[in-house]
Amino acid sequence: MNRFEGVNVLLTGAASGIGRATALRLAAEGAAVFGVDLSGSGLRETADSLPPGPGRLHTHVADVCDESAVVDAVACAARELGGIDVLVNVAGVHRTTPIDRLTAEDLRHLFSVNVVGTALFCREALRHLPDGEGVIVNVASSSATHGNPYMSAYSASKGAVLAFSLCLASEVAHRRIRVVPVSPGTVATPLTARPDMLPSDLDTSYYQRIRAPFGAAGPEQIAGVIAFAASPDAGYLTGAEIRADGGSHI
Ligand SMILES: NC(=O)c1ccc[n+]([C@@H]2O[C@H](COP(=O)([O-])OP(=O)(O)OC[C@H]3O[C@@H](n4cnc5c(N)ncnc54)[C@H](O)[C@@H]3O)[C@@H](O)[C@H]2O)c1
Repeated sequence: MNRFEGVNVLLTGAASGIGRATALRLAAEGAAVFGVDLSGSGLRETADSLPPGPGRLHTHVADVCDESAVVDAVACAARELGGIDVLVNVAGVHRTTPIDRLTAEDLRHLFSVNVVGTALFCREALRHLPDGEGVIVNVASSSATHGNPYMSAYSASKGAVLAFSLCLASEVAHRRIRVVPVSPGTVATPLTARPDMLPSDLDTSYYQRIRAPFGAAGPEQIAGVIAFAASPDAGYLTGAEIRADGGSHI
């Protein structure tokens, strides 16, 4: 498929996991991708994995929480690509926060990366996205709408991403710009492999009971859903969450 030939994509979180898989998928379908991340070495690994073909990948190191760095990154993307058609916000962090250990710093960090970063990229990219064609895909999480122990702070941040995306969809609908929140379930990435994902001193029996009938997802499966949401195939889809969790919450 070449659904993204001639399409310029700005994508955050391109150095790892779902963001890397999405950058590679969109480039494989012909996109020119401007990948942003905190990790320069991760971005180089993504660039090294780019398949031969018409797609291109530019990389740019920036912290999505830093407002001036976001303004600069979006301006750079528009300049280097010659415009921005699609924004995909994937950069995000997770922290396991049992309520008795929850700190204000945990909350600030989660909201700063997951919510503030997403919102700032939307604000800046909307100055460039073309009316009638522009698309924003924001990665939320199934935990935005489903309760899981030790995830109250993370889930609250992802609930904010979901609510932000729905409101923004209605705000920019008059420009016929689409905004689609995509909510993965558990995906095997460095984020879920972190040793502090579920510390061994916590009761994890809840998580042992949760199983996706379709098995564990790889980042490529979520990249496929994001590619659909960003493509003309989803041209009538806006302000509606796509939950891709392999049936974990049926
Ligand atoms: N893996 C899962 O199970 C899962 C489930 C639901 C939602 N998500 C969401 O999907 C997104 C991607 O997660 P992943 O599993 O691929 O994680 P990951 O850790 O593999 O990738 C996250 C990327 O975000 C980047 N990043 C983090 N903070 C940043 C900052 N301040 N500025 C710029 N870049 C920053 C990291 O460097 C990394 O490259 C996140 O928003 C996450 O919350 C993941």
